[in-house]
Amino acid sequence: MVTESVSKPGTEAGGQHLKSSLRENRVFPPPAEFSARAHVRSLGDYEAMYRRSVEEPDAFWAEAADSLDWMERWTRVLDWDGSRAQWYVGGKLNLCANAVDRHALGSRASKVALLWEGEPGEQRSLTYQELHTEVQRFSNGLKSLGVRKGDRVSIYMGMCPELAIALLSCARIGAVHSVVFGGFAAQALADRTNDAQCKVLITQDSSFRRGQPVPLKAIADEALTRCACVENVVVFRRSGTPVPMQDGRDHWWHDVVERAERECAPEPMDAEDPLFILYTSGTTGKPKGLVHTTGGYGVGTLLTTRYNFDLHETDVYFCTADIGWITGHSYVVYGPLLNGATVMLYEGAPNWPETDRFWRMIDTHKVTIFYTAPTAIRAFMKWGTDCVRKHSLSSLRLLGTVGEPINPEAWMWYHREIGHERCPIVDTWWQTETGMHMIAPVPGAVPTKPGSATRPFFGVVPEIVTKQGEPVPAGCGGLLVIRRPWPAMARTIFGDHERYVKTYWSEIPGSYFTGDGARVDEDGYFWLMGRVDDVLNVSGHRLGTMEIESALVAHTSVAEAAVVGRPDEMKGEGVIAFVSLADEREPSPALKDELKKWVAKEIGALARPDDIRFTPALPKTRSGKIMRRLLRELAATGEVKGDTTTLEDFSVVASLKEKDEE
Ligand code: WT7
Repeated sequence: MVTESVSKPGTEAGGQHLKSSLRENRVFPPPAEFSARAHVRSLGDYEAMYRRSVEEPDAFWAEAADSLDWMERWTRVLDWDGSRAQWYVGGKLNLCANAVDRHALGSRASKVALLWEGEPGEQRSLTYQELHTEVQRFSNGLKSLGVRKGDRVSIYMGMCPELAIALLSCARIGAVHSVVFGGFAAQALADRTNDAQCKVLITQDSSFRRGQPVPLKAIADEALTRCACVENVVVFRRSGTPVPMQDGRDHWWHDVVERAERECAPEPMDAEDPLFILYTSGTTGKPKGLVHTTGGYGVGTLLTTRYNFDLHETDVYFCTADIGWITGHSYVVYGPLLNGATVMLYEGAPNWPETDRFWRMIDTHKVTIFYTAPTAIRAFMKWGTDCVRKHSLSSLRLLGTVGEPINPEAWMWYHREIGHERCPIVDTWWQTETGMHMIAPVPGAVPTKPGSATRPFFGVVPEIVTKQGEPVPAGCGGLLVIRRPWPAMARTIFGDHERYVKTYWSEIPGSYFTGDGARVDEDGYFWLMGRVDDVLNVSGHRLGTMEIESALVAHTSVAEAAVVGRPDEMKGEGVIAFVSLADEREPSPALKDELKKWVAKEIGALARPDDIRFTPALPKTRSGKIMRRLLRELAATGEVKGDTTTLEDFSVVASLKEKDEE
């Protein structure tokens, strides 16, 4: 729901970035050497292709689908009734076979598919042929545990080849994977596993982060006490730390594959059969299980990876996102492997053992394409250039960014210090829901502007509208919508199609509602301005304010809580919680600390509030709605200028102000 006016100047990250973006008028044409060997070599070519893709979308997407191997050809490109999309109707294919078999059985058999570094420094690599072997054995292993087509499988792991193997094996046998990021807490894992009614959970003993073990199995065990649906657990031995194994329920990964047959034929899947569920935060307390399907998702991720990263046979591709997020699904696993690329995976923190870890890995493995988030770039800037300049970085030819609007200062630093002014920067705007990049510069063709995601991908029709759905005058801010379906779009919310239709296709009738504000400049470039709903973007991760509020009120000391974002130089947005305490509970620094820890324990460290502000009561409208606009203003500036006439209790604002002045 749109609860606020579109531009909230200065009240949050988007607004802050917008201010600097508005002053930004530098243009960087694609480097000539880059364009000369790119898939798309000029702005004219991009524009011609784009025009054709939107004038004849069926022809464009039909041709795109030929990049995949189909077991049975589809009959229609798209069926769309305004709430249910079916792409490649009647087509049958298997995405694991497309991502693995056709390379392993073709000319890429001995090409490296996965290159892995563990945080402590181990290295492993798997060729496409080896990946094919591993995936078939684990697929049979899953089958031996009773996993069948359509069953859901929960995956709670750290970054290692087995995580990619787990996803691909599910895809191979038609099971629907639901990956839960390894940084989420037990309750969050339990909620997601139960919502998807997963039959099996795949985890590992532990993983490493900043030299410390992350006890994934122990957290999974805690979650599993609340998950009646899970019958079997597979545990990959990563670190060798001893973990309890429950008889009859827990099985070691190596035992499961050891017993398994070697060959496993890929299951023929309908183009619209679900491939995975991925949970993301919305404006209510309950995360949404977005369902992505097989054919369209495969086509969309394959094509965007090829064009937006200008992928070539010799590239070594490194995306720093965890597979637990959509970026990892689409641009660590499916997109690059469908293209037969060499993909680098890294287990741990960017500053372990030193702040030059990424740059060292780029030189060691001759990485050519590097894709990360603005929040990471701002951390690199803070760590200084010394640790960067020690490394050559000469293998790099393209840089990508994703997750939040990139501030021009960070863009310029990335361009200069990492790209050595030679690598195009591809700022990719998209969402868990969109499955694939939607707005990004096709790098050999589209000139870049620091802070702008530039122009839409082929076949994508974004527009800026008012709350009433009217087009806004050129250059003005408004709501970003997408005018028509695209193949990788999420098809539904698991178990709640009504919520899907209401959230995405009803706000602006006839269009997909993104929840983002944006404006378009005179060159048709899109400038993203941040969320317009109650969703926070903390270090490029999406968090619902209501989710954090629910966690807080579950604490016995808390009567009521309201959570808002505050601009944060490093994280984009920080989490600020206004809390009124239960009877007879007294505010104290110790309680603040306890509540911060509580949220981290309930949801995960990423949701830990940066600040807790105690207040006798929360400011509400007469109809009882918490006045978030006012709290945001207060969190950002320490004072309230906005209209407060609808406040139920004026003294609340005064007392909040007082608290701030202390
Ligand atoms: C939200 C989606 C898509 C993968 C990562 C996050 C923001 C994402 C950009 C960008 C400006 C961006 C938007 C969007 N966002 N990329 N390049 N420029 N904003 O996926 O968790 O689904 O979050 O992230 O606000 O709506 P997500």
